[in-house]
Amino acid sequence: MTQQTLTITTPDDWHLHLRDGDALKAVVGDTVNQFRRAIVMPNLRPPVTTVAMAKKYREEILQAVAANGLSDRGFEPLMTLYLTDNTSAADIEAAAQSSFVHAVKLYPAGATTNSDSGVTDLLGRCQVALEAMQRHGVPLLIHGEVTDSHVDVFDREAVFIDRVMHPLRKAYPALKVVFEHITTKEGVDYVRDADGPTAATITPQHLLYNRNAMFTGGIRPHFYCLPILKREVHRQALVDAATSDSPRFFLGTDSAPHAKHLKEMACGCAGCYSALNALELYAMVFDEVGQLGRFEAFASHRGPDFYGLPRNKSTITLKREPFKVPEQIPFGESTLVPLAAGETLPWSLEHHA
Ligand code: NCD
Ligand code: ZN
Repeated sequence: MTQQTLTITTPDDWHLHLRDGDALKAVVGDTVNQFRRAIVMPNLRPPVTTVAMAKKYREEILQAVAANGLSDRGFEPLMTLYLTDNTSAADIEAAAQSSFVHAVKLYPAGATTNSDSGVTDLLGRCQVALEAMQRHGVPLLIHGEVTDSHVDVFDREAVFIDRVMHPLRKAYPALKVVFEHITTKEGVDYVRDADGPTAATITPQHLLYNRNAMFTGGIRPHFYCLPILKREVHRQALVDAATSDSPRFFLGTDSAPHAKHLKEMACGCAGCYSALNALELYAMVFDEVGQLGRFEAFASHRGPDFYGLPRNKSTITLKREPFKVPEQIPFGESTLVPLAAGETLPWSLEHHA
């Protein structure tokens, strides 16, 4: 008989953009409904570069959770610092000693939304920070794309592996590395076989869609994110990795809210909003390949195991009941278009009363 329900340890989101101010208040409830913890990206303006800034941002997130009446869920934001050319060993030591900063994020300068303060030359400029991270066991989370405009946008991840991942691993063999939102077969192969403590997050959009989704019947800005969607062979490699028994691949939505009008314009922003329906989307992928049995490991076990955090004690339940994704949801004065807007998904999350 077809499986009708799936009860698993409450999942965590290991890659999330929550923004700040009114945007934060508008979106945080969606994540709290789906996840117990989330690794919160530091690409605000200005970026979150110090433990003091991370502390303030964490308080703002918890206030936004309270303003949504959701304090009783015990949601825990796991904070990150934004690596710059000037991050010091003292910054890393302070992070390691804090109870709430769990990682440092590398954005190559110019790679994506709010990355102008990013790193210009990781191996040349960030030795002190990387050395301290390796020593203190602080994970480096990597947006793995070269920013060289001569490199084709679809090849930027693969080129990054050759130019940065291999030399980085050689120079810092014990550094914990998460290759964020991998999108290619090359990314999967690299992470599966790399030496040292290496893992990767995978988003719902990269598991569900190939690059045709951006161009079906016209240009579709709500499928535009970075790294950009790739060919079908890459999507299949990602599905194989996520549903395999390797402990190195786990859930990270990269949910990245941008107001509808800022995506539907001549130069639209990169990012898909999936916090509303992430678990429904991921469950569909695992179900389609007959691997629902591996969903809990991907969503709830491998992430905390890699980060050295306890697994959650509570559970959530998904039901095989149609879930109609809204066309849009309120976002301050504007709206947000969620991933798979307007589609009916086969699984729905049983929400708390
Ligand atoms: C992210 C954002 O909007 O902050 N956008 C995206 O397309 N993923 C930035 C990022 O993670 O690259
Ligand atoms: Zn991201």
